[in-house]
Amino acid sequence: MTRLSRRGFLGAAGAAASGAALGAVGRGFLDEDAARAAIEEVPFHGRHQAGIATPPQAHLAFAAFDVTAADVVALRSLLRVWTRAAARLSRGETVGNAPGSGPARLTVTFGLGPSLFDGRFGLSSRRPGALAELPAFRGEEFEAGRSGGDLAVQACANDPAVAFDAVRALSELARGTAVVRWLQRGFRGSASDGVVRNLIGFRDGTNNLDAADERAMAQHVWVQEPSWMRDGTYMVVRRIRLRIEHWDSVTLAEQERTIGRRRASGATIAAPNSHVSVARGRRHERILRRSYSIADGLDRQFGELEAGLFFVCFQQDPGRQFVPIQRRLAAHDHLNEYTFHTASAVFAIPPGSRRGGSVGAGLLG
Ligand code: HEM
Repeated sequence: MTRLSRRGFLGAAGAAASGAALGAVGRGFLDEDAARAAIEEVPFHGRHQAGIATPPQAHLAFAAFDVTAADVVALRSLLRVWTRAAARLSRGETVGNAPGSGPARLTVTFGLGPSLFDGRFGLSSRRPGALAELPAFRGEEFEAGRSGGDLAVQACANDPAVAFDAVRALSELARGTAVVRWLQRGFRGSASDGVVRNLIGFRDGTNNLDAADERAMAQHVWVQEPSWMRDGTYMVVRRIRLRIEHWDSVTLAEQERTIGRRRASGATIAAPNSHVSVARGRRHERILRRSYSIADGLDRQFGELEAGLFFVCFQQDPGRQFVPIQRRLAAHDHLNEYTFHTASAVFAIPPGSRRGGSVGAGLLG
């Protein structure tokens, strides 16, 4: 078992919604293991999948998979095996030969891509209207094989090895049924003052949807229909390269005009076409952002750092929420001078599962 980190404690405080955690601590359990489990474990089972409203952990390992098996029986059994394995991993238990060093607040979130409904599995009539491929936007330079996917696994944890090992164990279990199509790791900085900043040095999440606000989540994130998606949501991911060297070479005043906020305080400043002024949408466009910074070595072609943001957001309907925001950003955002999008995907995130149940069971049985 890993030592409890300060972040682990803060994370637990942030997850006040976790009744189990509060119960165990509040009743003054002396059992050290139970107390540690309450702080280090995020319950896997529940009405919603974990890793959406969960306060973001420090590390991400995301993988999109292509299903190689040609029948729905294999797909159904993969989702069952994955669900069981993810529940074990979330408790810090081992799966197969993987070393297992968690749980470190591990969450595993499963998604279904639009391509899963293309007819190979007899699901074409069941694709939800909200699960559509995203339109093309200006500023895209997608890399071959690095977008889309039939299935998605988002593993988040406060230990990078735990997040990666979860993806590794699940990909091993998929052998013969699905293969990893693309993979992305990410991290979130957190300074001693507790403020999370992304690689451009600005505060992250100042005007984000509050995931602890159940009314707001019901209004903007969780869906009701179709019935197999009730209490689920839709995820959009965009791998966005940041031209860090260019960003670092301009003045702080220019950076603040670009974002539309003061770097130190996060206070809004009026600047035409600033990122926040263009991103700020109408009420029905609100999204829950849950992004991670990326640093993937060197872009050898240009001799620049391969750095940026793995933008992740959750919403009821990407076509009504992400798409109009991104369309405006692509046309007007001052930040475009420093960014380009290199990967993109959209997934239906089915509701959570009960103990003994399976994620996606409402669709696949
Ligand atoms: C590298 C890419 C990006 C960077 C560095 C970035 C950075 C930021 C920063 C620093 C803020 C202000 C603090 C906050 O409220 O979190 C912000 C706000 C926001 N961003 Fe981004 N962002 C990026 C891409 C995107 C994309 C692709 C979208 C959606 C399509 C988006 C949507 C928003 C929204 C909706 C806000 C809140 C605006 C408001 O109402 O104040 N961002 N972003």
